[in-house]
Amino acid sequence: MKVEVNGIQLSYVDQGEGLPVLFIHGFPFDHQLWQPQIETLSQNNRVIAPDLRGFGDSDIPGDTSSMTQFAADLIALLDLLGIDQAAVCGLSMGGYISLAIAESFPERLLGLVLSNTRSAKDTYAVRQNRYNTAEKVISEGNGFMAEDMVGNVLCEKTIQNNPGLVDFVRDMIQRQSNAGIYAALRGMAERKDRTFLLSDIEVPTMVIAGKEDSIIPLFESKRLVNNLTIGYLEVIEDSGHLSNLEQPERYNEILEKYLESLAVFSK
Ligand code: MLT
Repeated sequence: MKVEVNGIQLSYVDQGEGLPVLFIHGFPFDHQLWQPQIETLSQNNRVIAPDLRGFGDSDIPGDTSSMTQFAADLIALLDLLGIDQAAVCGLSMGGYISLAIAESFPERLLGLVLSNTRSAKDTYAVRQNRYNTAEKVISEGNGFMAEDMVGNVLCEKTIQNNPGLVDFVRDMIQRQSNAGIYAALRGMAERKDRTFLLSDIEVPTMVIAGKEDSIIPLFESKRLVNNLTIGYLEVIEDSGHLSNLEQPERYNEILEKYLESLAVFSK
């Protein structure tokens, strides 16, 4: 389905009934990152899984997609769908966006899941690398990125044992537009540090970490949870950065448990 928000067409999945859960994908993916969660969680919940601006079937934006802009798009989507509050689950860049929602629209949160993500901003070196990569994607296309990233986002065991998933992730990266990737890289480079916000988040927050995540090492997830007032950590074994795809059953199990506790809490 598609709707117009903030002057662009945003594509999204809206499936199931019950407690609304907004799934925010990471970079450079689209809503299909959440395929195993959409299938399972929509049995008991209303699952909303958008393609962020510049990704999937959503419109290609301008030069920079800031985390604040992504957050504003998603809140406009919830408005159009008549959803006052949702549990928000963001993976990696989706987590950066979830924190932008927590900062600007705290009243819209029913719960928060920060998956394979961090609250800190980029270091100078990471920021420069993003700008360079953004230019390279425009001049060369995103093929190099798909190859590099598959090795970084999946753990060794997944790469060896699950070639189907390796292809799925590579294809998902390759079908994203260069302009959307460019704008999101610049948006991530320019995002602010939101660590200051963590102790003010008033909803129960679950942090999910992949034990073998090389992009968000475990110590960063421990630090993230330590800064929260109402938060706990779930570590997923045999998983890298994409723990929802690498260990979907375990991921769904902890998410279902969390959502059930929220449903009781919100009655
Ligand atoms: C993601 O999975 O969204 C990215 O790895 C985030 C990042 O590049 O910081």
